[in-house]
Amino acid sequence: MKTLVFATANRHKLIEVQSFLGEGFALHCLADLGITAEIPETAGTLEGNALQKARYVYEHCHQACFADDTGLEIDALDGQPGVYSARYAGPAKDSQANMRKVLEELKGCRERSARFRTVIAYIDHEGAEHLFEGRVEGAILEAPVGGQGFGYDPIFQPEGYTQSFAQLSLAEKNTISHRARAMRAFCTYLERL
Ligand code: IMP
Repeated sequence: MKTLVFATANRHKLIEVQSFLGEGFALHCLADLGITAEIPETAGTLEGNALQKARYVYEHCHQACFADDTGLEIDALDGQPGVYSARYAGPAKDSQANMRKVLEELKGCRERSARFRTVIAYIDHEGAEHLFEGRVEGAILEAPVGGQGFGYDPIFQPEGYTQSFAQLSLAEKNTISHRARAMRAFCTYLERL
C-alpha cells in the first residue's frame, strides 16, 4: 500500500478523496502529521496556491503529498472571484454573502458564462512537482436554487443541465464536477506508475 499526504485539514474532503483513490493508498491529512497551522495561500493563482501548500507539506515531511485549490471563474468579471472564491465577500467565508456579491455584480448582465476549476499539485517522494486540472463549464443563474452542496452551488448551472449544482445529488455532481475531474486525472497518473 502506498502512503500519500493530502494537505487538508478538512476531514470531509479527505473521505471524498479516499473514495477516488481506492484501497491501494493510505491517505494522511495535516493533523496526522501534527501540522495545525493554517498553510499560507498567497500565490495569486490556483496553480500557485496548490503548489505553495504542497511544498509546505513536503518540506515538513519529505513524503509524497498533494494539495488542491478551487475557484469559480466568471468571464464577465474577468475571472473573479477565482482564487478569492472562499473570501469574496470578506474574511468570514460566508457562502450566502459570496453569492449575493456575485449576483449583485452580474445584475443586468446577460453574459453569465463561468467555470469551476480545481488544480491539484502533487509532489512525489523524490520532490518532483506535477499539476492536474479539472474544470466544469456552466453559467451563473439569476438567483440561488436548490439545497444540496455548498459554496456557490445554488447559483451555478453546469453546461447541458437545467438544474443548479445544488439541485443535483452528490453522486450526480461527482460525475461531472471540477474536483472529481481533477481527482480522476491525478488517479489515472498514479495508477500508471
Ligand atoms: P477550496 O479551494 O476547495 O477550499 O475552495 C475554495 C472556495 O471555492 C470554497 O470556499 C467555495 O466557496 C468554492 N467552491 C469550491 N468547490 C466548490 C463546489 O464544488 N461548489 C461550490 N463552491 C465551491
